[in-house]
Amino acid sequence: MKTVIAIDGPAASGKSSVARELAGRLQYAYVNSGAFYRGITWWVLHTHTDPALADEVAAVITRTKLESGYQNHEAYLLLDGADATPNLRDDAVNRSVSAVSRVPAVRECLLAHLHNLAEERDLVMEGRDIGSVVFPHTPYKFYIDASPEVRKQRRQAQGQTDEIALRDRSDSSRPNAPLIIAEDALVIDSTHLTVDGVVGEVIGRLKLQGLPVPAR
Ligand code: DC
Repeated sequence: MKTVIAIDGPAASGKSSVARELAGRLQYAYVNSGAFYRGITWWVLHTHTDPALADEVAAVITRTKLESGYQNHEAYLLLDGADATPNLRDDAVNRSVSAVSRVPAVRECLLAHLHNLAEERDLVMEGRDIGSVVFPHTPYKFYIDASPEVRKQRRQAQGQTDEIALRDRSDSSRPNAPLIIAEDALVIDSTHLTVDGVVGEVIGRLKLQGLPVPAR
């Protein structure tokens, strides 16, 4: 396994911007695991499957060919050859992604893909359970948080209708791989920090841990 930097946190905590920037600074690949859960959710809706029916969601996923890999240093997921990227932020996906990501068959299937991606490249992976479940043995774990008000504002500024409080409740209370702070994660509150500020704190910790960081 290559080097994995795990970045977890609730919705709109700023972790995507931080993870992407960090991956660029380290010259690592970037994996947005939330985008994978969103891609599957889009596929579930696209195939007219009810996202609330776990058995049907599981059946669709079993029938679908999932392919993952890298393009331009960023991980992608294809569903029977289809690329969900243009639809990942659809309102319907926002509304259903927590229900779909609760389905054990979905998590098992994506876990295998996320593990495979770390066989190929050093990477920064963001999500909810990366430090706790997907790569519990990586020493490089971060949990990015921000106040609920600021997170809501960030989503609104992106022009999105996204019930983040609802998603967070669902993601934190599910029985399998809930959003938790891994014991050995460094928690960074990004409420009053810029992306650069958070990335600076992450890099400071990585250097203390002995990870080589290229000079700017
Ligand atoms: O990071 P995001 O907000 O785009 O993630 C969308 C949803 O995907 C999130 O509400 C829960 C799910 N998710 C998950 O269950 N596990 C992950 N590692 C990443 C995302």
